[in-house]
Amino acid sequence: MTEEGAGHHPCREEIEKRLEAERKAIEENLSTVDKVFLVMSGKGGVGKTTVSVNVALALAEDHDVGVLDLDIHGPNVPEQLGVTEPPKASPAGLLFPSEGYEGVRVVSIGTMLGDADAPVLWRGPRKTGFIREVLVKTKWGDLDYLVIDMPPGTGDEVITALQMLPEDARKAVLVTSPESLAFSDVVRAGEAVERLEGEIVGVVSNMHGVVCPECGARVDYHVEDYSERLAERFETEVLARIPLDPEAKAASEREGKPIVLAAPDSEAGRALRELAERLSEVL
Ligand SMILES: Nc1ncnc2c1ncn2[C@@H]1O[C@H](COP(=O)(O)OP(=O)(O)O)[C@@H](O)[C@H]1O
Ligand SMILES: [Mg+2]
Repeated sequence: MTEEGAGHHPCREEIEKRLEAERKAIEENLSTVDKVFLVMSGKGGVGKTTVSVNVALALAEDHDVGVLDLDIHGPNVPEQLGVTEPPKASPAGLLFPSEGYEGVRVVSIGTMLGDADAPVLWRGPRKTGFIREVLVKTKWGDLDYLVIDMPPGTGDEVITALQMLPEDARKAVLVTSPESLAFSDVVRAGEAVERLEGEIVGVVSNMHGVVCPECGARVDYHVEDYSERLAERFETEVLARIPLDPEAKAASEREGKPIVLAAPDSEAGRALRELAERLSEVL
């Protein structure tokens, strides 16, 4: 089919119309939210969810905060924020977020499908549909910040979120670890944000050195700080360098709460609270 033909296909026009209506509804829903940002990375396991929930909790000390969990295959937000109940659905089909620690409002597929341990075996269209539906239906109410926790990579979730969110909500924080292994994956995520007309507001270097459990010293293990290179590459800044903190992690496991609640004065706890502060300045 020629491009012109494709452009004039009646189905195409229908779809475009529907997407436009959905975008309007999403913009309307987010009009009560002051600042939105996505926590992204090309890489898994670098600390996206850790950053999302801890920053949300730190901001929640004196703001109204929500977290939207878009990691469909690995929704870790409910457990981290002590949420077991699904969002409330109104007869009209609207969704009202659940509440977690510190009153943080949460929407996650992790509480919406009944069995939290069942794998979500969804292909692209189903995921895309789910994300659009959640964005269209969720009434967040008045929020100062909405944090969107993303899955790794640049697949359906990232594309759909960035295509459906209004322009001023397409702001991304790139989470990386400071080594070369993470670098090229995270560059790809950053490139994706730029191509989808989003803005990169900063880089977070997590697992940036290790806090020695014996003496408390921060031991660096990277040879070069690739987070700095990443920030230069996207003309932004490294907003925080958060160490891998075994003590803080252990406290978090013991208490079943994120680091800023379980170990606020640990090295990682302090770095995460400073990150929330920096973010509130740059957003
Ligand atoms: N700074 C840190 N100190 C200690 N443990 C951390 C730190 N950052 C992340 N972790 C742990 O590493 C694992 C992966 O982090 P997570 O936030 O789930 O990554 P992602 O969401 O990017 O996949 C989790 O077990 C988390 O508790
Ligand atoms: Mg995660």
